[in-house]
Amino acid sequence: MDLFDKIKAKQGPLKDYAASTEGYYMFPKLEGEIGPRMQFNGKEVVMWSVNDYLGLGNNPEVRKRDAASAAKWGLAYPMGARMMSGHTDKHEQFEREISEFQEKEAAYLLNYGYQGVFSIIQSLVDRHDVIVYDYESHACIVDGVSLHLGKRFVFDHNDIDSLRKALDRAEKVVAKTGGSILVISEGVFGMRGDQGKLKEIVALKKDYNFRIFLDDAHGFGTLGPQGQGTTFEQGIQDEIDIYFATFAKSFASIGAYVASTKEVILHLKYTMRSQIFAKSLPMPMVEGALYKLQLLRESTQHKDKLWKITRALQSGLKGLGYDIGVTNSAVTPVYLQGSVEDALKIIKEMREKYGIFTSGVVYPVIPKGMIILRIIPTAAHTMKEVEETLEVFEIMKPFIAALAPKE
Ligand SMILES: Cc1ncc(COP(=O)(O)O)c(C=O)c1O
Repeated sequence: MDLFDKIKAKQGPLKDYAASTEGYYMFPKLEGEIGPRMQFNGKEVVMWSVNDYLGLGNNPEVRKRDAASAAKWGLAYPMGARMMSGHTDKHEQFEREISEFQEKEAAYLLNYGYQGVFSIIQSLVDRHDVIVYDYESHACIVDGVSLHLGKRFVFDHNDIDSLRKALDRAEKVVAKTGGSILVISEGVFGMRGDQGKLKEIVALKKDYNFRIFLDDAHGFGTLGPQGQGTTFEQGIQDEIDIYFATFAKSFASIGAYVASTKEVILHLKYTMRSQIFAKSLPMPMVEGALYKLQLLRESTQHKDKLWKITRALQSGLKGLGYDIGVTNSAVTPVYLQGSVEDALKIIKEMREKYGIFTSGVVYPVIPKGMIILRIIPTAAHTMKEVEETLEVFEIMKPFIAALAPKE
């Protein structure tokens, strides 16, 4: 069979919906400046779908500096991979400053988060080693694990008993292979918004010999006294062996970093295929990250504002009787029941009639019959937008109830 014919016939969990949803539910075009009010389908909407947690995406000083940096350096410099021709003082400066901020010996700046994570995993383990990871891990972790040639065990989401069982099995394997164990989890899980039970996970180091790699994409900037992340929030940064965060959320940009011991960072610099064989991060992103790090060190104002909005939104939704699950981060899921078609109706009604833009998560990402409206508060939102949104959630109750499956 011709490959293109095969591809044409091939569906898949997301492509199944392509014809009916593209341009509206999938690949919507959000226009105007990044912020709490944007344009969608020619209308203004209150935007709850961008991960610009600290509201820095459209911060005037950030934009001024980004523009000045782009004017000075262009978007190409430095050309090539870090190892060959893409290395600068500024890249090193960021690594020094972030390692200090994260209280780790060393750090390495990465060109992308996704590629960074799977490449870190690939660099850390070989076929004798065992990976133990959370069932609800982000796709970049799952893809990194899929490259692993040795054994892997998944544990039930944030379930310490299940993790213990997985570690028991992992120990049996490494006793034979002579390998090591790597545990992988996240600081904040991006769908449910619950923090990883990191204190309990690192406490298992008393009983088992493992190292832990943590992806803190959603915790960096939003948790911890200065926004250092979930590990500082929970007071266990010393116990986290390899810490990762991306610039794609709180830093409203592109790029990422990993922080650990000097030996581990040296190893990653010389083995991470996604960095050795791909272009280095351009200067405006590096200078932008340096400035945003300065903002975190100088003040907690953006994080404080984010939490003011988050608390008001989450307590308001709970007060209205909505189920927001177990979130203890800014990620705010609203759990509803219904089919995929019901989800589309609810989302459309909210967007078209009331100008409230949320994203929907449906089967197969979550079980059949379940709907999550995913709401991302940011420091740029105002209390007025929270109130307006809560009013709409109040008005929507009969509409949602009419769709819910009857007992
Ligand atoms: C948990 C998690 N890890 C990694 C990534 C990938 O980061 P990036 O967008 O920088 O590639 C994301 C999404 O952005 C994420 O949510």
